[in-house]
Amino acid sequence: MRLFELAHSKIKENIKRGDFCIDATLGNGHDSLFLAQQISPHGRVFAMDIQQSAIHQARCKLDAAGLAKCVTIIHDCHTNIMERIPVQYHGEIAIAMYNLGYLPGGDHSIKTTHESTINSLLKTYELLKPGGLLSVLCYRGHDGGAKESDEVGKLCSLQNWSFEKFQGSNDPVSPVLIVIRKS
Ligand SMILES: C[S@@+](CC[C@H](N)C(=O)[O-])C[C@H]1O[C@@H](n2cnc3c(N)ncnc32)[C@H](O)[C@@H]1O
Repeated sequence: MRLFELAHSKIKENIKRGDFCIDATLGNGHDSLFLAQQISPHGRVFAMDIQQSAIHQARCKLDAAGLAKCVTIIHDCHTNIMERIPVQYHGEIAIAMYNLGYLPGGDHSIKTTHESTINSLLKTYELLKPGGLLSVLCYRGHDGGAKESDEVGKLCSLQNWSFEKFQGSNDPVSPVLIVIRKS
């Protein structure tokens, strides 16, 4: 099983209709579509991205699936997540997803960085409800990716978060999935 499939399967065990979720890296919208399928019709996905082209692709995908009404798309950096998620959802988020790196098929120079990722992960953890799940898929093959993955692991240890780590293979540049559960 590939790591994005593992992330989806871990989330499926923990998500239910009506839940509130975050997709902190919307990209082409695969993860938001997956989340919307699980929580529709009454739940909500808050999805963020800094790239207008990604937002356009994602919106088309969600429209085609008839699920756009369940997803609030926010064109902003995920370091602003606290201000951009309405206060009534703070502490009520069941699932949050990060799929780090750059947009496949897009501009590879526009990508997540360890500074903004760590900054926003701390905020997203606060937004979760107790027992909520935070899934972070890290790609180590691009410049800065290995450092970002290491920093996410270090953050989990430093914060004493409860987490599991999965590695694609023994290859040092294979992807890493980190799944955090809020206590
Ligand atoms: C690997 S892609 C995400 C894939 C996506 N989850 C999907 O299902 O298609 C990473 C995305 O993160 C976005 N991104 C990079 N830095 C960001 C930031 N600071 N805040 C929000 N999104 C960011 C990029 O624009 C890119 O679309």
